[in-house]
Amino acid sequence: MPEEAPAPLGIDATTPNAARMYNYYLGGKDNFAADRAAAEQVLKVAPEARELARQNRAFMRRAIRHVMADAGIRQFIDIGTGLPTEGNVHEIVHAHDPDATIVYVDNDPVVLAHSRAILSRTPHTATLRGDLRQPLDILSTPALRDLIDFSKPVAVLLVAVLHFLTEDDKPGEVIARLRDSLAPGSHLILSHVTADERAHAAQQGAAVYRKASSSITLRNRQQIMDLFEGFELIPPGMVKLHDWRPDEDSAFATYRGRELPTWFFCGVGRIR
Ligand SMILES: C[S@@+](CC[C@H](N)C(=O)[O-])C[C@H]1O[C@@H](n2cnc3c(N)ncnc32)[C@H](O)[C@@H]1O
Repeated sequence: MPEEAPAPLGIDATTPNAARMYNYYLGGKDNFAADRAAAEQVLKVAPEARELARQNRAFMRRAIRHVMADAGIRQFIDIGTGLPTEGNVHEIVHAHDPDATIVYVDNDPVVLAHSRAILSRTPHTATLRGDLRQPLDILSTPALRDLIDFSKPVAVLLVAVLHFLTEDDKPGEVIARLRDSLAPGSHLILSHVTADERAHAAQQGAAVYRKASSSITLRNRQQIMDLFEGFELIPPGMVKLHDWRPDEDSAFATYRGRELPTWFFCGVGRIR
């Protein structure tokens, strides 16, 4: 979005937006001046944020490949999709099986507009407006039910989105609602930001997000582990992004020559 172009109707370009800030970390162009200024404030306290965003995407891609190859999953619901970027979920999924289905869900109008534009000619995909805090509304949307067969395993992606839910939003209950709607053999692909190692920088980064479209709730290892309740964690369990089944995608797991600090925990859980 060039700065000089007016924001599309209904889009607030003046409040920093979490999806567009993330797009900026990833080197994307779908962001406004307010997003870039806020993202730069985060980068000041956490200069490794760009690398973390890349690592988070790389974890997501590895997890998708894993659940397709090893668990035979062919249906994906990606909640908190984010702005399209290189290596989107449908690209990874369709490289493995062009007949697999993907439903993208986000509550941000900019994300929805971009996602719909990209997917308009992509078969077996849909983009829905939905809020993770109302999981059953998402699952009952007709466009989703047209594509997803709930008698068969599904992978639900909650990648870098649960930290936008406060404790009052009851993230554990949200996940339980999703889990109880899915067939055995379904998987949860999850990553979540933590303040465990870089507490001061994380608090400062979270303060920037308090002035943005969505604030961040930092959770510790145990709180994130608790989100997998009712799922069997598949090896290697809940770990740092670059420790989850590393491959050539994980080649950049260092920042300025040192191991990346723990900013995220991630894992893949399976319903028995
Ligand atoms: C940091 S981006 C993550 C994008 C992608 N999942 C990834 O990890 O690369 C977070 C996304 O979650 C969306 N989001 C935040 N809160 C949400 C909610 N309550 N319901 C649905 N989407 C939400 C934002 O609009 C944004 O697109």
